[in-house]
Amino acid sequence: MTDPLLDIRDFRLHFDTFDGEHKALDGINIQVARGETVGIVGETGCGKSITAKSVLRLLPSPPARVVSGEIRFQGRDLLTLPEAEIRRIRGIDIAMIFQDPMTYLNPVFTVGQQLVDVILSHQAAGPSADRLNRRAARDKAVALLESVRIPHADVQIDSYPHQLSGGMRQRVLIAMALSGSPSLLIADEPTTALDVTIQAQILQLIADLVDEFHLAVLMISHDLGVVARLCRRVVVMYAGNVVEDAPTAEIFEHPKHPYTQRLLQAIPHLHADVQHLSGITGSIPNLLDPPPGCRFHPRCGQAMPVCARMKPVFGDVAPGHGAACHLYGEGA
Ligand SMILES: Nc1ncnc2c1ncn2[C@@H]1O[C@H](COP(=O)(O)OP(=O)(O)O)[C@@H](O)[C@H]1O
Ligand code: SF4
Ligand SMILES: [Mg+2]
Repeated sequence: MTDPLLDIRDFRLHFDTFDGEHKALDGINIQVARGETVGIVGETGCGKSITAKSVLRLLPSPPARVVSGEIRFQGRDLLTLPEAEIRRIRGIDIAMIFQDPMTYLNPVFTVGQQLVDVILSHQAAGPSADRLNRRAARDKAVALLESVRIPHADVQIDSYPHQLSGGMRQRVLIAMALSGSPSLLIADEPTTALDVTIQAQILQLIADLVDEFHLAVLMISHDLGVVARLCRRVVVMYAGNVVEDAPTAEIFEHPKHPYTQRLLQAIPHLHADVQHLSGITGSIPNLLDPPPGCRFHPRCGQAMPVCARMKPVFGDVAPGHGAACHLYGEGA
């Protein structure tokens, strides 16, 4: 990929805890191009959220410790930028939405007051000629609420968070995320807490906004189905490693990594007999003492002796399709 917007390279992150060193991210590579929609999937605990938080430098350090690698955004390494620069990028160039909007909304202020404050704070960081007064910021807030399809935005703007449904609150957070005109939106399980119908509406909204605002999206979910609805490309993570990276259709039609194949088998099919739904047996490893070689080998039905000895190198298995598995390595 030439000149990606976001370029995570050989990124290795550990947590120093009383129990020892959690080797949470084991040298991951993820790229997102301008306007591209990329999904990260994997079971709970595989390192999706800490990857997202690392991009915005939101992890407390200690215990988090960057061991190696770079996270380049528009060519600049976010890991080495001064804190003031990162604060400017956070929420303006890169915006993030999370699973539980209530955690990020203040219950004692209306959504309008909070949205206006965010708009004004972004402008305080920009040129003074562009600054709006509170009245104009409120008009902009109404326009943003309309852009996330909140009905009667000019009335709803005076609602308190608890007066809105979960889906509406997530729309408010998306409006806040858009207020800085970001080029990248990171969405960490944004629909997981919502029921299926609302989930579909929020995914459709994000898809529409991608076109309208020329957004790139890094969508994180434990649910391959959710990612498939929005994303052009899917990155599969397992126990702190990227194990497969391919266009979404390729992942579904020609999954190469045994872990991806198992994830796909675990998706319930509409007409499947419930008795025959196959979950993934076993659990993700303890990252204090991860398995040597391929971290998936204790659970892999196709493991070979080499798998417990050597970490598989990520490489192309088809054009635009990469995987880290000894089945496809040299000499396989
Ligand atoms: N503060 C912390 N201290 C130690 N380990 C942590 C900390 N935060 C996260 N981890 C570990 O990092 C791993 C990845 O977590 P996370 O990114 O939240 O997973 P998920 O893929 O479910 O989003 C987990 O094994 C988790 O236990
Ligand atoms: S490297 Fe070996 S253990 Fe790991 S997924 Fe491939 S076949 Fe299975
Ligand atoms: Mg998570």
